[in-house]
Amino acid sequence: MDAAIRAVALVKHFGVVAAVDGLTFDLAPGRIYGLLGPNGSGKTTLIRLLTGMTRPTSGQAEVLGVAMPNRPNLARIGYMTQADGIYPALTAGENVQFFAAAYGIEDMARVREALALVDLADREKTIAATLSGGQRRRLSLACALVHQPEVLFLDEPTVGVDPLLRVQFWAHFRKLADAGTTIVVSSHVMDEADRCDELLFMRAGKVIARGSGATLREQAGTKDLEAAFLHFAGVGAVAA
Ligand SMILES: Nc1ncnc2c1ncn2[C@@H]1O[C@H](COP(=O)(O)OP(=O)(O)OP(=O)(O)O)[C@@H](O)[C@H]1O
Ligand SMILES: [Mg+2]
Repeated sequence: MDAAIRAVALVKHFGVVAAVDGLTFDLAPGRIYGLLGPNGSGKTTLIRLLTGMTRPTSGQAEVLGVAMPNRPNLARIGYMTQADGIYPALTAGENVQFFAAAYGIEDMARVREALALVDLADREKTIAATLSGGQRRRLSLACALVHQPEVLFLDEPTVGVDPLLRVQFWAHFRKLADAGTTIVVSSHVMDEADRCDELLFMRAGKVIARGSGATLREQAGTKDLEAAFLHFAGVGAVAA
């Protein structure tokens, strides 16, 4: 099957910083991919390149066979940004409605479905500014999901989300992937990484290792993913 997401010699420079430093990869459809790496390793920049929010310095980003940036292709892409992209003066319901309308969806049932999915059904009329941090995170996810995208980018979706809801989020991501959605999740929470089908370890704009959690642990000869990361990053001697 064709790749859902493709990077070809993808580079993004900010001045002298190579935020994304020559990435080439294919991601197959219907799987959950985890981007893992420390602060500043290029996860958000890579997601912004793949969603077409920023243009590459060189190389190419493709989603569903279409070179990005491409505005019509955004109808097939969902993007939950690291900073919540919601409108504080609107209610929770109006926020989701706004994103739905941007994709030509005027069906309030779809809006309510998205709110229910993130357990905010009873907050439809609440002004977004007065929601808690975790609730705003959940609202952002509802906004990213409401148009039922084929490819979903989630930039640290579970930061500030309580453990119970975190489990529900992941169960939902799995359900979406089983139904064919391709999901890219960034995180530096290694214990979430094992919920991904495949991991891309990032460091200084490069992918330093790729594979399932089990494969990466085995290759590194370590018990946990954190130690595996340090192994691939070439950071000192690591107790396995
Ligand atoms: N708009 C920008 N202008 C200048 N430099 C930027 C910009 N965006 C990112 N960078 C730089 O690019 C590098 C990668 O940043 P990026 O935000 O992609 O990292 P990240 O892996 O998402 O980090 P975090 O885990 O903290 O979210 C960093 O050195 C950052 O300072
Ligand atoms: Mg980031």
